[in-house]
Amino acid sequence: MIIPAFLETTTAALRKRFSQVESLRYHIDVMDGSFTPRRTVGAAGLKAIKPNAFIEAHLMVKDPLKKMPAFVGAIDMVIVHVETLDDVDDYIRNAKRCGLLVGVAIDPETPLRKISPYAQWLDRVLIMTVHPGKQGQKFDKKALAKVRLLRKRFPHLSIGVDGGIHHGTVRMAAKAGADALVVGSAIVHADNPMKAFKELQAEERGA
Ligand code: DX5
Ligand code: ZN
Repeated sequence: MIIPAFLETTTAALRKRFSQVESLRYHIDVMDGSFTPRRTVGAAGLKAIKPNAFIEAHLMVKDPLKKMPAFVGAIDMVIVHVETLDDVDDYIRNAKRCGLLVGVAIDPETPLRKISPYAQWLDRVLIMTVHPGKQGQKFDKKALAKVRLLRKRFPHLSIGVDGGIHHGTVRMAAKAGADALVVGSAIVHADNPMKAFKELQAEERGA
């Protein structure tokens, strides 16, 4: 699946994105200005908008366990960076207790062994194909090796890729074994976001 990603600094801008791109599922990038330099809209903005869709929140924040409870009621899945966790088991337990589906994201330079022991308990592993922080960066092909390895070991795991996915990289990511393709700028900065979204969906189906 292609999942439209929104990274916005105001609730008004986020609301506008939801109205531009109609989807059953969205990826919301949340930054606290600490793990990454910039800040975005967070739980309060999402609660104000109440989108009628499956929402996954990609938390690029410090102390994610402290910040997670605020999102309960506003999201369906939480995705936290392994680099920000002291104890992955504890995070999984906490997220489940909050009633959330659980994902873990991994930066390009972080080795897969940091997450593979937990993969069987996760609803999503998110392989970063750029450094977290902003949209419109170049897709890092090297990260696809992680996708291939994970897919081989865990045939039923949901494996996401995030960063630099556009019409030139969709097939590569899908062929490597990713089933959740997160797309920011190739949709939201397109002249016709809905058309771009549909074209990417068609490309993925043809991969
Ligand atoms: C990067 C974010 C991505 C980003 C994707 O920090 O996690 O989700 O919004 O944007 P594009 O598709 O433009 O790389
Ligand atoms: Zn993201």
